[in-house]
Amino acid sequence: MTTLLGKTILITGAASGIGARTVELAGQLGADVIGVDIRLPATPGGTFVKADISTKAGVDELAAKLPVRIDALCNVAGLSGKTGAIPTLSVNFYGLRALSEALAPKIREGGAVVNVASMAGFGWQANLNRAISMVNVEGFPDVAKVVADHQVKNEECYPVSKELLVLWTFRAAHQALFKGRGIRVNAVSPGPVETPILTQFREVLGDQRVDSDIARVGRAGTPADIAPVILFLCSDAARWINGVNLAADGGLEASVNAEVLGF
Ligand code: NAI
Repeated sequence: MTTLLGKTILITGAASGIGARTVELAGQLGADVIGVDIRLPATPGGTFVKADISTKAGVDELAAKLPVRIDALCNVAGLSGKTGAIPTLSVNFYGLRALSEALAPKIREGGAVVNVASMAGFGWQANLNRAISMVNVEGFPDVAKVVADHQVKNEECYPVSKELLVLWTFRAAHQALFKGRGIRVNAVSPGPVETPILTQFREVLGDQRVDSDIARVGRAGTPADIAPVILFLCSDAARWINGVNLAADGGLEASVNAEVLGF
């Protein structure tokens, strides 16, 4: 793994699971880490800023507190969908995007944004028209209105949030706000990972879906499987990688693709 010495890396979702492991590993690799979460981490690494990215006010307040120069933003914070479509889309997509756009001017030339999407966003192509329409709603919108206008049901809100994130990653990689400053924008899509959110996925998606995904690849992932992938995309070793959605899932997406495409 390449060094992150001297880089300032902002990591949301720092209090738990994938975000907490990413904070720990980034510190070990020499980065100055700023962790962000709505909850306090049990073992804080680096600097910690408590913030709620589910509202425009929360994002604005956070952006104002951050230093003028950041090398990479890791958008890891997320909700499972259990609390419904409005909070889930607010955190997993509209808040994440608003934070990224607010911080773009603070990210140095050649820096990076890494979005933690999900295998759950696999349906972005099948649901392309809805995803485009929802991504086209600019700024930090009235999320209740967006949900109503697009008839997003609570039970589908998590996959929808990740479909939007995958699509926006492709778009942002080419937007002047990022590309014009040499900022790469990529996504990592884990399959099931053993963290507190996985228990909630079992409630939202059902045990059968989660167990069958795990069975396809032999085991669930761990935060330690995902953190190095996120940090690789932050590093200069990934300087020619832009606008990709990188599966970190033990082969789950390949297995589903083979089934869907019939080979
Ligand atoms: P987790 O539940 O352990 O961590 C999520 C973190 O996000 C928590 O610390 C939580 O407090 C924080 N958060 C939630 N709402 C927030 C808000 N309004 N403002 C600031 N922070 C907030 O879950 P995990 O697994 O670490 O999830 C990290 C990311 O990985 C999420 O985006 C999730 O969707 C994604 N993911 C997780 C998978 C899994 O099976 N664990 C699979 C695929 C993707």
